[in-house]
Amino acid sequence: MLYHIVTYGCQMNVHESEKIANVLEELNYQPTENREDADIIVFNTCAIREGAENRAFGNIGALKQQKKRNKNLIIVVCGCMTQQKDVQEKIFKTFPFVDIVIGTHNLYNLKTLISRKITDRKRIKEYQESGELHEELIAKRTSGDNAWVNIMYGCNNFCTYCIVPYVRGREISRKKSDILNEIKDIIATNSYKTITLLGQNVNSYGNDDKTQGTFSELLQDICNLDGDFKLTFMTSHPKDLSDEVIDVMSKNDKILKELHLPVQSGSNKILKAMNRNYTIEHYLDIVKKLRDKMPNIRLTTDIIVGFPGETEEDFNQTCELVKKVRYDGIFAFMYSKRSGTVAEKLPNQIDEDTKHNRVNYLLDLEKEIKAQKEN
Ligand code: SAH
Ligand code: SF4
Ligand code: F3S
Repeated sequence: MLYHIVTYGCQMNVHESEKIANVLEELNYQPTENREDADIIVFNTCAIREGAENRAFGNIGALKQQKKRNKNLIIVVCGCMTQQKDVQEKIFKTFPFVDIVIGTHNLYNLKTLISRKITDRKRIKEYQESGELHEELIAKRTSGDNAWVNIMYGCNNFCTYCIVPYVRGREISRKKSDILNEIKDIIATNSYKTITLLGQNVNSYGNDDKTQGTFSELLQDICNLDGDFKLTFMTSHPKDLSDEVIDVMSKNDKILKELHLPVQSGSNKILKAMNRNYTIEHYLDIVKKLRDKMPNIRLTTDIIVGFPGETEEDFNQTCELVKKVRYDGIFAFMYSKRSGTVAEKLPNQIDEDTKHNRVNYLLDLEKEIKAQKEN
């Protein structure tokens, strides 16, 4: 019996698919690269932008023929898309050949649900408003010499454009002892060069449970473990990146000198409307501190263009910021309206042409800076 997993979205989802793979192997399925050969197909979806959702819809729809050929094929749809109740209902109704549809908070139960499906054959749909920690889900690591380690789940920030807090719930930090034990096991295998800590906002680690200590303390405790490994982490929110974290980064050779620090916009007006809770002055101050202590640090960022109300002047400020920071990499996105978020209802939504032009302009600017840096 063979399984095939299709993963959309962020590193969090990539790692979650490793946990799904482990569940499937416990059920005696083996991996296949070829979707056509699979006896069970899992779609681990992303809801961050409309484009991601549409792609998943199209690809799920395309499975109808395969199901006709193989009546025993089991199709599972999970992840952030199906944590939106209306989208879950829509998938269940539109695609009668999909067998199991569950949200992010029901993933821990996947093994039971697949077994139930095999025995009584009824279609399954499960939704749970919120979730808790599930240490029993372990990963079958498939990301080469990098090992992902979740340190926390969820997000409390409610950036006004973003769906993540709605589909991933509130921040929950894992126990430091569980994180350290997982990392010790990873080191003991001698198979991984880097360990990447994962969280939507790693800098707020422990805010929900002060007994675990802070993120900078966690970093130091990991560096104190014996072994030959490199450590990195994502994602950092500029409002929470502390001086202590910068200090620990600069003092420990084990921590890679790279940081993904999403700025989203170079305009204070837009940052405020996005509910990002920092100013460009504060952001530049962090960049200065980072480079003072680590002159060769690799800085990357995320930028959204075309947020409601973004004028030419606001966009110019974003370009100015990019020129000042001279990033080593930029992920530029066109703003995508997400239902249920605050920005969905904001006036002055920007037309698609303008968004395209702005995103292309930024990509050209990035290329130019890269070329200059390489010379
Ligand atoms: N927690 C991380 C990453 C969240 S999602 C952070 O706060 O940085 C990754 C990126 O997707 C975000 O940084 C943002 O740039 C982009 N994004 C999120 N929602 C979006 C939307 N509605 N439209 C366009 N881009 C979006
Ligand atoms: Fe979304 Fe903001 Fe949370 Fe990142 S910090 S996941 S952008 S709400
Ligand atoms: Fe997408 Fe969910 Fe990640 S919405 S970006 S897969 S947390």
